[in-house]
Amino acid sequence: MLYFRSLPTPNNKRMYQVNNEVESILHGLIAKRTKAIKEGESTKDDLLGLLLESNMRHTYDNGQSSMGMTNEDVIEECKTFYFAGMETTSVLLMWTMIVLSMHPEWQDRAREEVLSLFGKNKPGYEGLNRLKTVTMILYEVLRLYPPSIHFSRKTCKKVLIGDKRYPAGMMIELSVLLMHHDPDIWGSDVHEFKPERFAEGISKASRNSGAFLPFGWGPRICIGQNFALAEAKMAICMILQRFDFVLAPSYTHAPYTVVTLHPMHGAQIRLGLI
Ligand code: HEM
Repeated sequence: MLYFRSLPTPNNKRMYQVNNEVESILHGLIAKRTKAIKEGESTKDDLLGLLLESNMRHTYDNGQSSMGMTNEDVIEECKTFYFAGMETTSVLLMWTMIVLSMHPEWQDRAREEVLSLFGKNKPGYEGLNRLKTVTMILYEVLRLYPPSIHFSRKTCKKVLIGDKRYPAGMMIELSVLLMHHDPDIWGSDVHEFKPERFAEGISKASRNSGAFLPFGWGPRICIGQNFALAEAKMAICMILQRFDFVLAPSYTHAPYTVVTLHPMHGAQIRLGLI
């Protein structure tokens, strides 16, 4: 976060201010939770609680010589999880609602599946694994509208990629969006919403099983992907159980990117109680 401290432009000053606000909120939260844990209260079973408890146990077991994570480390972890996990999952849900509004036949199929598996009850974690149609829909939404449209890597030494050589210190960007919209990989219907292409899983959906990259690839693949999919399935199930939905006339389809891929003018959707 040092880059925005170097030049005092209005934008950098605002980023600095926002960063300070976020850090001060997190400092407060951590202090409150650390005190509660020391006083023997439960950790509430969430990520921050688990992180703090494991860190305190580590320090206790290894004596004061090993501090474990500092408060600053914990703050950075909170920021990573919040920024990597919140916006991405929320835009996935937003695009899913938009696309299911555009394709009512798939909305009906998804609702039928949810109602036949769970009725109007809240789905259990195990039950989410039985959702076939909803999973195909989420994959197809992630293909057409990947929340992260690219990822970057810096070469740390000379490398050969395919038949091209790159020097050390180069930024290489891999466009997820281009890969997901390549007709040579997905077929001539690449721009159409066709969840059935995932009927036999990700590996059979395209001509190149490595071409589906919504969560990245390799050692830095998204650590939260299973959590994100479970969360998205749970939310979509609960929405389908209660509402049917259509696009409002004011909706304009204009995907654009500000960190994640958003609908530029928002997602105006009309919900009707079932
Ligand atoms: C639909 C939702 C999500 C999408 C599309 C997504 C996408 C991605 C992508 C593409 C990467 C790799 C970036 C790279 O290689 O440079 C990544 C990394 C990461 N994601 Fe997610 N993510 C999602 C949800 C989440 C959630 C819910 C969490 C946490 C609870 C999370 C935590 C992380 C973390 C910590 C990393 C960095 C992993 C590392 O560098 O080792 N993500 N995510």
